Parts: sequence; C-alpha cells; structure tokens
Amino acid sequence: MAESETSNIREPLPAPAKERRFSAQAIAELEEIASHYPERKAACLPALWIAQREYEGYLPPPAIQEVADRLGLSYAEVEGVATFYTMYNLRKRGRHHLEVCTCLTCAVKGAYEVVHRLEKELGIHVGQTTADGEFTLSEAECLDFCGAATVMQVGDKYFTQLTPENVKQVIDQLRNSADYTPTKLADSLVKLLIPGSSETGGGSFAPKDLVNPAGPML
Ligand code: FES
Repeated sequence: MAESETSNIREPLPAPAKERRFSAQAIAELEEIASHYPERKAACLPALWIAQREYEGYLPPPAIQEVADRLGLSYAEVEGVATFYTMYNLRKRGRHHLEVCTCLTCAVKGAYEVVHRLEKELGIHVGQTTADGEFTLSEAECLDFCGAATVMQVGDKYFTQLTPENVKQVIDQLRNSADYTPTKLADSLVKLLIPGSSETGGGSFAPKDLVNPAGPML
C-alpha cells in the first residue's frame, strides 16, 4: 500500500543508522522506570514516550532504533509496538495536535460540526497539517470525558463543551501559546510514570489541564 501524506501510518523501514538523542535526564528516567519491571522489554511503552519527547514529538526510525538499543530489543520488536498504538506519532505533527473525539456521545453533541468548522478555520482536512506547521487535525476515539462533549485533546490539555461557535477562540488561544504540545504531552506522561515527579500521579488529569471555552462546566 502506498504511503499517504495525511496518515499516521508509514511503510516499515529498514533499521536506520544509529543516532543518540536521549539526554542524561532521559537516560536516568528510563533506568528508573525500567527498574520497576522484571524485564527491560516491559518498559517499551514508557521508553517510546521518552523518545517521542526527545525526538521533537514523533518517532522517526532513529528514535525506534535508540529505544531498541537501550532496552536490548530488535528494531522490529519496537517498531511493532510503536505502530500498534495511535498515540505514538510516526510522522511529525504540528505545534498543536488537535484530536477531536468523534465517538458516539461527542458525535451526538455535534463533534462533526466542530471538525468541519476547524477544517474551515485552518484550511486543512482531517489528517493534514497547516503549511505553517502550527496545527495538525485528527479525529480521536472516546477521550473518556463524555459528560463534557464535545471534547478535544491538545497535548496534555482537554478542551471541553466545544461548539462550532467557540472553537475559533480555542485556535486563537493556542496560536498565542508558546508550547510545543506533542512534546509537552510526552513529558507529562513520562512524569506520571515516575513516582513523585508529578503533582497528580497515577495517570489522572489535574483540573488545570481542562479548559472549557463554554464557561464553568455544567
Ligand atoms: S464520546 Fe467523546 S469523550 Fe467519550
């Protein structure tokens, strides 16, 4: 199957030349996480989050090779994991990756109207990135916050109760933010996995990570 420019899927690639981008802090994080498992291969998912942060928000072949080398795995084993989970980016994303939930509750509450308004505002379709590299637009499966539909994840933040009328204000807010959200999300997830390094711990979102342009949550 030919590669699609808009998809997160790419053809399997041969193992690349070795590259090392893990910082001393990243290596320490990986070793701390791996120490909690009986086998190093069990740390593959967290290691890929570390790699996604260290490699500018996505996993090019050298990132997969570095994870394989650091965990004593083959390139194919790590690539098999990275290509299975959609939260790992196999292609470079925009500075803000907009992931709009279009599952049942959000769809009933108008998620596709929100998606179409975003397409119009940004001049792109789902699966594409704006020419200035600022935004990538994707559909997402249920984000587990159905009571506040329509929900959109952007990095480590959830935007809730979205409507075609209030998404423009979200886009403006994101344009003015200095964050590079794909790496920010990866960093937040790595910190959740290291005991004592996150204020929430245990994988939950803190209230500050929820943004509701509709006003106070109903
Ligand atoms: S259906 Fe959208 S968050 Fe669950």
